[in-house]
Amino acid sequence: MKSHDINIRLAAADDAEELLRVYRPYVEETAVTFEITVPTAEEFRARIENILKKHPYLAAVSDHGITGYAYAAPFKGREAYDWAVETTIYVDREWHDCGIGTALYQELERWLSAQNILNLNACITYPNPDSIRFHRGFGYRDAARFTKCGYKLGAWHDVVWMEKILGRHKNPPKPVVPMEDLIRQMNAGR
Ligand SMILES: CC(C)(COP(=O)(O)OP(=O)(O)OC[C@H]1O[C@@H](n2cnc3c(N)ncnc32)[C@H](O)[C@@H]1OP(=O)(O)O)[C@@H](O)C(=O)NCCC(=O)NCCS
Repeated sequence: MKSHDINIRLAAADDAEELLRVYRPYVEETAVTFEITVPTAEEFRARIENILKKHPYLAAVSDHGITGYAYAAPFKGREAYDWAVETTIYVDREWHDCGIGTALYQELERWLSAQNILNLNACITYPNPDSIRFHRGFGYRDAARFTKCGYKLGAWHDVVWMEKILGRHKNPPKPVVPMEDLIRQMNAGR
């Protein structure tokens, strides 16, 4: 295992090229993501900015630069889904099993709890034993499996959805706290 100090911070649009360096091999060489064409840095910048309007987008930074990232995105567009998100995580393949994914997901959950988000859903190409084990370890459970719903690199791929319940579903629920409010509070507390 490589030794390193990891700092988890909010990502910024200017991180786009470094995040793409992490993401690119998964697009080009695997079916871990169903994206087939590597997005441009401009497109990636726009995605980061768009996510951060509503949810956390985090980067893991070490002496070696950015080694992983994780974010949450709306699960579905309709308002009643506001308490549910889709979680996504990518760690540089050179840096697996070093605790980076764990550090990213712990921090992601801290932000999402502070937002009063209740349901975390992860979509994982099947098979992906590393990711399934990682998510199980974080308390996600199997929720659904869809058959051959993506075609990439000459093969059809199933996906599994895993879910984690992050908080109690009270009636009525606490309102979702906008990400910009949390960022303002964080900056005020500095
Ligand atoms: C799934 C993924 C995010 C995990 O990231 P990671 O940085 O390797 O995760 P961690 O290092 O925190 O944990 C992985 C394992 O290493 C172990 N580990 C972590 N830190 C450790 C440490 N300091 N000492 C010993 N073991 C450690 C963890 O317990 C875990 O063990 P497990 O797999 O038996 O549960 C990573 O494999 C990845 O990016 N995969 C490709 C992308 C992907 O599949 N994303 C999910 C789709 S949304």
